[in-house]
Amino acid sequence: MNLFKKQGVLILDFGSQYTQLIARRVREQHVYSEILQPNVKVSDIVERNPSAIILSGGPSSVFGKSAPEFDISILDLGIPILGICYGLQLLVHHSGGKVESTGKGEYGFAKLNIQSYDSLFNAVSERTQVWMSHMDHVTHVPEHWSVLAESENGIIASLCHDKNKWYATQFHPEVIHTIEGEQILQNFLFNVSECSPTWTSGNFIKEQVEQIQKQVGDGQVLVGVSGGVDSSVVAALLHKAIGEQSSAVLIDHGLLRKNEANLCVHALKDGLGVKIQSFNESNVFLPKLNGISDPEKKRKIIGEQFIRSFESISDKLGDFSFLAQGTLYPDVIESGVSHGKTAHVIKSHHNVGGLPDDIDFELVEPLRELFKDEVRNVGRELGLPDSLIDRHPFPGPGLAVRIIGKITEERIQILQNADQIYMEILHDEGIYHEIWQAFAVLIPIKTVGVMGDQRTYENLCGIRAVTSHDGMTADWYRMPEHVMARISSEIVNSVRGINRVVYDITSKPPGTIEWE
Ligand code: XMP
Repeated sequence: MNLFKKQGVLILDFGSQYTQLIARRVREQHVYSEILQPNVKVSDIVERNPSAIILSGGPSSVFGKSAPEFDISILDLGIPILGICYGLQLLVHHSGGKVESTGKGEYGFAKLNIQSYDSLFNAVSERTQVWMSHMDHVTHVPEHWSVLAESENGIIASLCHDKNKWYATQFHPEVIHTIEGEQILQNFLFNVSECSPTWTSGNFIKEQVEQIQKQVGDGQVLVGVSGGVDSSVVAALLHKAIGEQSSAVLIDHGLLRKNEANLCVHALKDGLGVKIQSFNESNVFLPKLNGISDPEKKRKIIGEQFIRSFESISDKLGDFSFLAQGTLYPDVIESGVSHGKTAHVIKSHHNVGGLPDDIDFELVEPLRELFKDEVRNVGRELGLPDSLIDRHPFPGPGLAVRIIGKITEERIQILQNADQIYMEILHDEGIYHEIWQAFAVLIPIKTVGVMGDQRTYENLCGIRAVTSHDGMTADWYRMPEHVMARISSEIVNSVRGINRVVYDITSKPPGTIEWE
């Protein structure tokens, strides 16, 4: 393991909904972090040589039967430990203290009464606000432990061991509602522990270039590019590592945004010199979608044709032993494949369309250790333009799931035109980056309007914009009125075939982000 990872943090995941957030917060301090299952062997921990360990929160009770297994000899390694919420209760429980459920939990905001500012609370304000989410709490402090802070509710909020570098917080320093959570984590990483802030995009690129060169030798690598940020960063990284040995392909199914394929190819080819070709396969995809209005059928047809097109193009292009793709760390965590241990698994959820499990390539997945925001930083460092890096997510089946009902070339064009105007206005108004995802939808209903002295009978266009952190839940974006007015007026005035615009005010749940 490289030096810049060695002085990092291992996070044992006891099932908290915030575990990934802990990992991201640590990495925001440029310290490498890795999430492991709680039953990880002590030898695996020693091998990684971490500078600190964090025990996450979790839904269990330390005295419950279903409490996750955890090898307590980890406590003997002499590595600084921070226990968060359930992690605090574990440390206290194993040190001979008492954790109980007294029927008095704490959920939401709380103020702290800090008793010691020496270590974890160095430079933290008096009565700082933190975020609590627990039912059980410490009722008896173990021997050799001292309380560092209590909540305003009189519940122990933080404590530390007198000799070992074991610290614990009942609140969650990783969530933004803990106002000085960043300071508290910094104190743990750099004052209590000796973590090293070497996890940077530059170091990551240097390491990956070496790894890719080692993995592929003189083999040829095919890179599937979708137009989105992840696959573009993979293509740029491969180009940097092995130059002409990598060939990127972009399969245009005819359902991309207007000019999207061109923009992506231009940025990679002309901007960075990446060997990339775009294949317009719309004449193969669109006839297959003719007359189909069922959303699942659309997805299936596109997914299957994508595989066929990909296979035939790769056969023609050369003899490839490797396929590079943009799998990210959250996919790796969710698929349960521990880092560097098991054979790589191709997930059915794939950012260039669901490739089958039995394809005859060895995978190159240089982004397996990164979160999305880190991919963006690496992309910037590699010289990709902001227009590509900061782009909203775009679904694999593309506009097919935004043209409700049947897909025709005319309807694709109408939607592309409306969508382009919408995106331009969001950029022009400076609000594109406040929004997680925005798009136009073509609804299969015609309504009556009047333009000039003429009666019109044209299509209805839906406008969607949502805020979100990960796409799992989302809220509709409170679009300023003057922007809504501008979008409506410019679309109706400039796009032939649309005479009415509506704004979608549904959150997820109960809605989904896409309409199909
Ligand atoms: P929903 O509509 O399920 O979407 O709320 C959540 C996020 O996933 C994207 N999405 C897809 N991405 N292939 C993809 O690559 C798909 O089939 C697909 N369907 C939805 C959607 O755009 C949103 O970001």
